[in-house]
Amino acid sequence: MEYSSKSVNSNQAGPHEKVGEIVLKHWHSEFKRPIAEHNYLAYQKAKASINRSSIIFDSGCGNGNSTANLAAQYPDSFIIGIDKSLSRLTRNTDNWHRSGQDKNFILVRADLIDFWRLAADDNIKLLRHFILYPNPWPKKQHVKRRWHTSPMLKTIMSLGGQLEVRSNWPVYIDEFSSALSIFHFCSQKKILTLDFAQCLSDFEKKYHQSNHTLWQLTADLSIDSHHHA
Ligand SMILES: C[S@@+](CC[C@H](N)C(=O)[O-])C[C@H]1O[C@@H](n2cnc3c(N)ncnc32)[C@H](O)[C@@H]1O
Repeated sequence: MEYSSKSVNSNQAGPHEKVGEIVLKHWHSEFKRPIAEHNYLAYQKAKASINRSSIIFDSGCGNGNSTANLAAQYPDSFIIGIDKSLSRLTRNTDNWHRSGQDKNFILVRADLIDFWRLAADDNIKLLRHFILYPNPWPKKQHVKRRWHTSPMLKTIMSLGGQLEVRSNWPVYIDEFSSALSIFHFCSQKKILTLDFAQCLSDFEKKYHQSNHTLWQLTADLSIDSHHHA
């Protein structure tokens, strides 16, 4: 692992001025991209492995170290680590091979854009939802690639649970928070003060070692009475 990483460099100093407009546009339109077969199969596989009554998603889990850590932290829950990159998922072969039937976690290769919709359409309600260090897409012109300004925000909201997003770019956290506030979901923003040993994921470790400030957003999405924009 590389131990020095640069801070996020962006031509956007604060939240994008169009967050509200973009979020509402997505809310009022239907996202119709067809579900790819391999994502459907990955979803079915993950679903069939669930061996606990509560479910936690580790969305964009990379090499799955965070998924294994969460599985130890939440022994009564089943953790599903999802990533679209096979090379990342299989980087820690131990996680990849240990995940499965007799454990309380599984790693699956799938695109979240399909996996989340399949779970939401199946009426899955999460206990917790971790989105750790999502790609920040820091260029202003890429604003719509961020999760909160993508058509996926409503899917994330319908999956419910305690959402936790971590980022080394505070703008991402602020934008996510303002996107949720449109639907009257309150979120809390704080700086994480962790020891290295408490780091959940490899990106977190890398940023910790590079002395980046680690930001956390938490939001209770289990209240579904506030969804109307
Ligand atoms: C910056 S890495 C963070 C990885 C891990 N959460 C960590 O903290 O170490 C972002 C991850 O999100 C995954 N990712 C991005 N977009 C995705 C998508 N649409 N579906 C599934 N995974 C995605 C990438 O493959 C990558 O592994």
